[in-house]
Amino acid sequence: MLRRAVVTAAGVLAASFAASGALAQDTIKIGIVQSLTGQLTAVGKQVLGGVNLYVQQKGSTVAGKKIELVVKDDTTVPDVAKRLAQELIVNDKVKILATGITPASFAIAPLATQGKIPSVIMVSGTSSATERSPYMVRASFTLGQQSGIIGEWAAKNGSKKVVIVQSDWAPGAEATQVFTESFTKAGGQVVETLKVPLANPDFSPFLQRARDANPDTLFVFVPAGQAGLFAKQFIERGLDKAGIRLIGPGDITDDDDLPRMNESILGTVTAGHYSAYHESPTNKEYVAAFQKLNGMRPNFISLGGYDGMHVIYEALKKTNGNTDGDALINAMKGLKWESPRGPISIDPETRDIVQNIYIRKVEKRDGELYNIEFATFEAVKDPIKAAKKTN
Ligand code: PHB
Repeated sequence: MLRRAVVTAAGVLAASFAASGALAQDTIKIGIVQSLTGQLTAVGKQVLGGVNLYVQQKGSTVAGKKIELVVKDDTTVPDVAKRLAQELIVNDKVKILATGITPASFAIAPLATQGKIPSVIMVSGTSSATERSPYMVRASFTLGQQSGIIGEWAAKNGSKKVVIVQSDWAPGAEATQVFTESFTKAGGQVVETLKVPLANPDFSPFLQRARDANPDTLFVFVPAGQAGLFAKQFIERGLDKAGIRLIGPGDITDDDDLPRMNESILGTVTAGHYSAYHESPTNKEYVAAFQKLNGMRPNFISLGGYDGMHVIYEALKKTNGNTDGDALINAMKGLKWESPRGPISIDPETRDIVQNIYIRKVEKRDGELYNIEFATFEAVKDPIKAAKKTN
């Protein structure tokens, strides 16, 4: 009897090994490293909201394989992002990574190259993020795409003298660079550029200095999650009453913060790639489903998560479930589809996102503040990369 019990136990053990082997082969693990706590929690929460909605809608089987998301919190610290990505590659054997904000994406890029792990950038808006590794593909946006367009619009629409207030890190530097170039080329003048620390910002002293310089317009970049505080301090310092026009990339009228902003923000014009009010059936459905699942309005960051998952799913369909790094990256190049933000594609040459940029004005609809689009620039590429090509 004892012998039979041992034999049976061995049989069960062998069967379960076989099952786990089959399971490992049929499961594709995706490592999602995002800022879920720390300085940019607001960013992580939106991007994960988009990821979760995509998987809820499309299911977790692609090309006959089971998709398993392994979600990690980088605590908004790039070294932590790097360590987590390393562990995901080595221990969890993830075949694809999804990266977050600029410093975290920069930190993960060498690991993507070393391990040939396709890495979808879901947040970073800094041009060079895709150049840090041939295995990086951007599903988010660049600050340059938006800042050049608003620079030209402002110069053509009465702005002559601008003070820039920028969050002091890579995407802020690019917003400033591209805006300054386009605004001055169109005849405007930038009189001062003020840099505000990324961590725990207090905009008040900078706004006072900006006001003292007596500009007609303020160009501002702050990251998602800081727009609410910025708008409050802009009004507290009386810049709205002083008749100073506020412009910027879409981050300053972020849909996440907009519903709680003071109505003094009405009329603010920005250039952005996404508005929750974008008029399309695809977007109406997206906003309703996102609200239902996540209990908040989706903002421009959420699309990096949602469309980033689309890039991953469509690439896996094209390779028929093959997770070879080069095969997957090739499959991602040139993808083209209708996103809630409008038509978008992955530039096959640069692996960067090509998308419409809309000029929008804050208005009230159904009793709530929204960015209402009134002009469209179609299929905009990252201007920093485009400039390098022609130089
Ligand atoms: C970035 O990581 O580059 C980033 C994050 C949040 C923003 C814009 C850019 O709102």
